[in-house]
Amino acid sequence: MEVVIVPDAAAGGDIIAEAMAKLLHRKPDALLGVATGSTPLPVYQSLAARVRAGAVDVSRARVCQLDEYVGLPTGHPESYRSVVLREVVEPLGLSPEAFMGPDGAAEDVQAACDAYDAALAAAGGVDLQLLGIGTDGHIGFNEPCSSLASRTRIKTLTEQTRVDNARFFGGDIEAVPHHVITQGIGTILEARHLVLLATGEGKAEAVAATVEGPVAAVVPASALQLHPHATVIVDEAAASKL
Ligand code: GLP
Repeated sequence: MEVVIVPDAAAGGDIIAEAMAKLLHRKPDALLGVATGSTPLPVYQSLAARVRAGAVDVSRARVCQLDEYVGLPTGHPESYRSVVLREVVEPLGLSPEAFMGPDGAAEDVQAACDAYDAALAAAGGVDLQLLGIGTDGHIGFNEPCSSLASRTRIKTLTEQTRVDNARFFGGDIEAVPHHVITQGIGTILEARHLVLLATGEGKAEAVAATVEGPVAAVVPASALQLHPHATVIVDEAAASKL
């Protein structure tokens, strides 16, 4: 695992956008796995700026979702589908057909999860998966004690994650769904390159456990230690407990 300490979130965003640009130069139809949350926004902003400047061609790029809330009405502004369309697909000028994600509104949620795993495989697999990290060490929505071999499936959010994410729902924890679909840890580990970005002191403990702790289901992000090509990019605050 490679650990890169950067001065701030914008610098982290630039490094990752540069890695995505290089990948797209080498493989124009690369499948980029994107994450939600506030941390990755500088990546998308930096990549979109490069696209506007004509420095990177995303005309054949494809984007896929990491996770999704279950039960939000179609088109809800905080469904991760809406977030990825708003923060990534539209600013990059991609067509909605270049985007894939699990169906959080499906009647049969497990069938939707299985279909998504199959769709990722049929698409040739994820080339670069961008990850954030939860304060409890989760990646995607794989909460502590998720199996390190897990596939895409339904999970129940911990109270801590619902509290953390309430800010996206007007601060109302009751509005945060209890259930989610997430790529499993085993699914995530199949991506060719994993890039985790963490910023701010609130992530320092989770980052230390991820990088320096044992590989353990209680810290899902520690599974990155098992991957042959994992990069962890942290600002000084998130690195403060390393
Ligand atoms: C959610 C997402 C994760 C993300 C995490 C951290 O739980 N499912 O993919 O990493 O939030 O979000 P933030 O970057 O806003 O701290």
